[in-house]
Amino acid sequence: MNETIKLLTSHQSIRKFTNQPVTQEQLETIVTAAQWASSSSHVQAYSIIHVTDEAMRGQISEWTGNQLHVLNSPVFLVWCADLHRLRTAYEINENADKAYLGSAENWIVATVDVALAAQNAAIAAESLGLGIVYIGGIRNHIEDVSKLLRLPKYTSPIFGMCIGYPDQDPGQKPRLPLQAILHHNTYQTDDMLEQILKYDQTMKDYISKRTNGKRSGTWSEDMKNKLKTPTRMQIKAYLEAQGLDVQ
Ligand SMILES: Cc1cc2nc3c(=O)[nH]c(=O)nc-3n(C[C@H](O)[C@H](O)[C@H](O)COP(=O)(O)O)c2cc1C
Repeated sequence: MNETIKLLTSHQSIRKFTNQPVTQEQLETIVTAAQWASSSSHVQAYSIIHVTDEAMRGQISEWTGNQLHVLNSPVFLVWCADLHRLRTAYEINENADKAYLGSAENWIVATVDVALAAQNAAIAAESLGLGIVYIGGIRNHIEDVSKLLRLPKYTSPIFGMCIGYPDQDPGQKPRLPLQAILHHNTYQTDDMLEQILKYDQTMKDYISKRTNGKRSGTWSEDMKNKLKTPTRMQIKAYLEAQGLDVQ
């Protein structure tokens, strides 16, 4: 196994950080690595907001359901899908009212671009000995976060990311068996149930060990609980208001 694969396969989310600061140079290295991700048609449809203001961090932390690491991590970034800059680029050449920005296709392009860049940043940070955790919790209050960060039309926050030196070693979460996610030629359903049940047992053992026997839920139970009630249903209306009403 080479060093890159070792790094990739040793990932664990970090939610507790030491006070050691992340330097400006490290931050710029991480963001430069993010920029070298592939980008659909070279559109680079993302922007990153580095939130340093303590009051803003406190407010965002509250909106994420009081996730303390959002307040305490040395670096907190908000990753945004950004079609606003493309509109400006269009406007340089032609009246941008003619631009098709809010299509479902462009929404996929922008959100995929954000994710690819962010994951490059995550790996770069981890290669420097830092830890990260993504924060989807910012979408609990997507409109409030958007207003706070003064995001223009045709942009949307997608997730946050805490970065800093780890002050914990929580252990890696087991992944689904490879056979469950890797299909050959066509989508296979034959042994799906078996694979899920196998993974349920793995996760049950893992959670029981991690919580000293206090919890022992399975992955399929977690997924059931996640999907049982609708969440963040305000997002559609927010996207429409931002001109991202995926037609
Ligand atoms: C888009 C995205 C949003 C996430 N949001 C949160 C979050 O709001 N809070 C949190 O503590 N972890 C969050 N996570 C981290 C996941 O819970 C974590 O990646 C997953 O449980 C697997 O654990 P691991 O990263 O330690 O392997 C998020 C991950 C992703 C990819």
